[in-house]
Amino acid sequence: MLTLAVETSCDETALCIYSDEGGVIGDVLLSQAKVHFPYGGIVPELSAREHTRNLLPLLDKLLKETEVDLRGLDFISFTLTPGLILSLVVGASFAKAVAYLFKKPLVPVHHLEGHIYSPFLERPIEYPFIALIVSGGHTDLFLVEDFGRYTFLGGTLDDAVGESYDKTAKLMGLGYPGGPIIDRLASEGRSIYNLPRPMIEEDSLNMSFSGLKTAVRRVVESGGYSKEDLSASFQSAVMDVLEKKSLLAIEKTGVKRLAVVGGVSANSELRRRFLALSQKHNFELYIPHLKLSTDNAQMIAYAGMERFKRGVIAPEDINPEANIPLEVFGRLWS
Ligand code: KG4
Ligand code: ZN
Repeated sequence: MLTLAVETSCDETALCIYSDEGGVIGDVLLSQAKVHFPYGGIVPELSAREHTRNLLPLLDKLLKETEVDLRGLDFISFTLTPGLILSLVVGASFAKAVAYLFKKPLVPVHHLEGHIYSPFLERPIEYPFIALIVSGGHTDLFLVEDFGRYTFLGGTLDDAVGESYDKTAKLMGLGYPGGPIIDRLASEGRSIYNLPRPMIEEDSLNMSFSGLKTAVRRVVESGGYSKEDLSASFQSAVMDVLEKKSLLAIEKTGVKRLAVVGGVSANSELRRRFLALSQKHNFELYIPHLKLSTDNAQMIAYAGMERFKRGVIAPEDINPEANIPLEVFGRLWS
């Protein structure tokens, strides 16, 4: 079976053609990072306009590269939720138009479900497993018992980790997206600033990162700081919290399989630390390849294929929503 997947939830316009037998046939992606860079964060209206500009040229490129005939598709997968609503609407309208024109069914995908299944594009994970989602919009721990069966274990009460990286970078005047920039600077610095690790000692799987950002602001405003050292200190605090809460989730559930997914899982210190943690505490660790950590359409295609195989087809009047919780979505459609 063959699907075309459309991902436009944030600032990456991405398309993929995927077959359940042959894997990824073709994959194209355009990042809008340069467009949002001067603003130090995503400008939602600009994001939607860039998706509108980019989708057709990207489709053209994908079809030329793969020589796939759209008439040969079995269905179209697209990101329904969560995300920037205008950006989701552009992708959904595009997916609907292709589906209508070629008389193909539409399959809605939850963006976080896409992230959770991103490691499966390389190797499947046995159920049950724990998913730590660390992205620009989310920092959540889920217990995944089967496809579509997600139990929320805990998550951030305020900023998402990626958002915290981006805001910290903005405070230091480093540009957008902040994650990769801080990742690089941190590797040249030392963790010498005493920054808080909010809620780290609490016996709960909830987290909080807004206090960390405030502490960074104080250091910045005091002047005369080292960007490298502040990056290293910030990153070290974030990783301490993520490590502690992941271990607590393993302890509380007794499930010794952890997938770390989403944009921040591209972080080099996260990868190093979690690998060491998994060896020390004897659990299985799954982190997707760098290209699959950040937003992409391959993960939407994979999750779409699983949904289609379970008989999920969207009604014609389906509309994107800014935020349908993953647990609710899982129950709605399986
Ligand atoms: O999953 P993603 O591509 O989009 C969302 O669904 O939000 O995640 C984007 C986030 C951004 O906040 C970005 O700064 C962060 O992932 N990110 C990183 C790194 N690469 C991307 N954060 C830390 N280290 C990185 N290397
Ligand atoms: Zn994402």
